[in-house]
Amino acid sequence: MVDGRRILIYGAAGGIGSALCRMLSHQGAQLHLVGRTESKLASLARELGATYTVGDVTDEALFTRVAQEAGRPLDGLVYAVGTITIRSLFRLTEADFLNDFRINALGAALAIQAALPALKESAGVASVVLFSSVAASQGFANHASIGMAKGAVSALTLALAAELAPKVRVNAIAPSLTRTPLGESLLGSEQMAASIAALHALQRLGEAKDIASLAAFLLSPQADWITGQIIGVDGGRSTLRTKG
Ligand SMILES: NC(=O)c1ccc[n+]([C@@H]2O[C@H](COP(=O)([O-])OP(=O)(O)OC[C@H]3O[C@@H](n4cnc5c(N)ncnc54)[C@H](OP(=O)(O)O)[C@@H]3O)[C@@H](O)[C@H]2O)c1
Repeated sequence: MVDGRRILIYGAAGGIGSALCRMLSHQGAQLHLVGRTESKLASLARELGATYTVGDVTDEALFTRVAQEAGRPLDGLVYAVGTITIRSLFRLTEADFLNDFRINALGAALAIQAALPALKESAGVASVVLFSSVAASQGFANHASIGMAKGAVSALTLALAAELAPKVRVNAIAPSLTRTPLGESLLGSEQMAASIAALHALQRLGEAKDIASLAAFLLSPQADWITGQIIGVDGGRSTLRTKG
């Protein structure tokens, strides 16, 4: 249980973020939500009795504003903001690479930096959960930009887990394709969804709750001896071949 824990969630109104917020709220956590779209955040905050800050993670000023508005102490931080840029190297621009890096990796680093004083004031061991991707440990065509950005998230997880121990744990979840607004943008049709699902040993795509469940566990005291891990929630995609 994370009863009374104070948790800051970037990307709170997204597919995985909102599933996680509902799980944590059900467990009794107090949440501060961050995202770009005020209408979505306001309605989720009303539903969960949470507070929120509206802003874009490409605006550096956001992070200090969030730190002030989220308050202290903090027991957990989740950075569930991301992009999926699937494009051949030939079609990728410098702006695409920089945008993927800023939103996925640099934003996570700045969010943790700004929240660190509050995380260090947690009565227990604070927990940070980041989001990498199956594409950071497997090579997929047309994933140069997002794979590179998510590889940086995995390295950030390891570096900060070492630097912030023993007061703060840092772990990342590496999902395969999951049915959220971000994931759905890749699925042109149900036929395409079925063919991608078939590439997974467990023969389906991820659901937001599959990913959110592990994030909720990593935030809980039950995970208090887990740090510096990048954990696949991917239907077997990163490790298993069932044919051939
Ligand atoms: N879904 C997948 O297949 C998949 C696979 C691998 C990794 N992941 C990772 O899992 C994490 C959660 O993804 P998701 O599938 O839940 O995505 P999602 O449904 O698109 O949610 C992303 C959330 O981040 C917010 N956001 C996006 N860009 C932002 C920005 N520049 N500034 C502030 N907020 C921003 C969005 O806010 P608005 O609602 O206001 O737009 C949204 O609430 C991401 O790190 C993603 O890369 C997802």
